[in-house]
Amino acid sequence: MFKKFWLRKNQKDSSTLRDKIEEIKKMPVPNHVAIIMDGNGRWAKKRALPRIAGHHEGMKVVRKTTMLANRLGIKTLTLYAFSTENWKRPKNEVEYIMRLPEEFLGTFLPELVENNVQVKMMGYKNQLPVHTLHAIEKAIEETKHNNGLVLNFALNYGSRSEILDAVKQVLNDYNNGTLKETELDEKNFSSYMMTANFADPDLLIRTSGEIRLSNFMLWQLAYSELWFTDVLWPDFSEEHLLEAIETFQNRQRRFGGL
Ligand code: IPE
Ligand code: IPE
Ligand code: MG
Repeated sequence: MFKKFWLRKNQKDSSTLRDKIEEIKKMPVPNHVAIIMDGNGRWAKKRALPRIAGHHEGMKVVRKTTMLANRLGIKTLTLYAFSTENWKRPKNEVEYIMRLPEEFLGTFLPELVENNVQVKMMGYKNQLPVHTLHAIEKAIEETKHNNGLVLNFALNYGSRSEILDAVKQVLNDYNNGTLKETELDEKNFSSYMMTANFADPDLLIRTSGEIRLSNFMLWQLAYSELWFTDVLWPDFSEEHLLEAIETFQNRQRRFGGL
């Protein structure tokens, strides 16, 4: 009896989701979605669990979000996983987070390969533990011929450092004569950023109720649509992503024009 009810309820839920997806696909979806996945610690605290339990739960949401983004035809999904400021956290938490790429990719890499997802990473690789970098580089290598969704992890990423480094490279190229002052424009400057091969995000999502950018893609988000929710990242569901995209589809982007 209960099982029957449960089955019926789930069938209904999945068909509602399917309908919603079809509805959303009738209108243009954002090309590039960037997400500040925040609130793992608070999610765990609410359940009297250690903060790392929240990070573990958040990993499952990364999978669901990736699969749905792929299904919707989004071209790039950038996920802020660790900032250059997050090293300030307790050592055990940082160590745990640095194990997550191995765990995530160890479990889901075959699924990503199968679904034509291409894994990429932006951020400072030098400070990452060898095991973390190794897991990511393996995933990048094994998915490099895929041409579906680009899943771009922002790991040890910081926007101000990225901009400063771009400026230093520009100075260097100017000094050695490979770049003339007249050649430097917004497009050219963008090519010095970690996002050189990406379009700017069309939509930025931040979970957990914080209304700030926390040093994320300051240059690239200049004209992105911003969508904030109080939902904590481990509670972020497919419905929430669809809601964000639906809101995006109903916004009018003017880029300063009329
Ligand atoms: C986001 O969740 C994940 C990372 C920054 C790595 P938090 O760990 O920041 O969770 P809160 O904000 O403390 O709840
Ligand atoms: C931003 O979240 C970084 C990531 C989600 C990876 P934080 O939790 O570090 O941001 P603040 O400290 O609240 O600004
Ligand atoms: Mg946080």
